[in-house]
Amino acid sequence: MELAHISDLHVTAPLGPWWGLLNKRVIGALTLLRRAHPHAVMQAAVDDLRAAPPDHLAVTGDLTNLALDAEFARARDYLAAVGLPPERLSVIPGNHDGYVRGPFRARRFEHHLAPLLGLAPDALAWPRVQRRDGVLFVSISSCVPTPWFTAYGRVEAAQVAALRAALLADDAPFKVVLVHHPPLQGHGGPDFIWRRNLDGRAIIDACHEGGADLLLCGHTHAPFRLQVPGGARPLVISCAGSTTKRPRALGAAATYNRYRIEGGRLLEVEVRGYCPEQGRFVSLRRESP
Ligand SMILES: [Fe+2]
Repeated sequence: MELAHISDLHVTAPLGPWWGLLNKRVIGALTLLRRAHPHAVMQAAVDDLRAAPPDHLAVTGDLTNLALDAEFARARDYLAAVGLPPERLSVIPGNHDGYVRGPFRARRFEHHLAPLLGLAPDALAWPRVQRRDGVLFVSISSCVPTPWFTAYGRVEAAQVAALRAALLADDAPFKVVLVHHPPLQGHGGPDFIWRRNLDGRAIIDACHEGGADLLLCGHTHAPFRLQVPGGARPLVISCAGSTTKRPRALGAAATYNRYRIEGGRLLEVEVRGYCPEQGRFVSLRRESP
């Protein structure tokens, strides 16, 4: 199986009435001034995936910038344009998709994304469990509204227990977990407290107990990969960074990963990056995990 992994799309849309910004959204709106996530890069990522469709596509959150309905609709349209059927998609929310309480409580992410995933809005819940071609996918949500100037994630105990149960219940040769906030950073320790996954340790323990092989995440906008020993199988944590962040140089940002999984093993990771001169994604390197 070839598994593509994109993340932190931060799709923007017109802001709507000014009173919609009288909350934490005003901070996120400032990033619009920097045009940090150009639509041209998002479109190029869609084109790249369409040109060589993966067997499965994982999207690890922050589809939107301010959790506006117009942003959700645009992000969904971009993902739909990739052309993969629902059973070949795993999509989770990030902290920006629950940026303020209203959209989070109203389940706007689930409302907009469920049709793309072949589900009724009420049927999209976390964890979401899928199995395809000998690979198990367990998608969990660490998305919670947080106070101003914080971006931490939480995965409540019941969801961690359900993650562990889902992993243990399936004897798939290869098991993949999706969560937006990395349980650990590339240096092997947790992130700053104001933006870390507060339940990272519990998630890693569940992954180790349940025999997860690969944990896909985003959030930090800087890609990394590390192995976490301690379980029955080695767990690889892979952060995709941001697929749409404007790159200062080829490979400095705007990358995504394609994993080759065969015989229950992760054999190779191809990193693809947006080339500003060519206006398209190109292969940067192929690595062994
Ligand atoms: Fe992000």
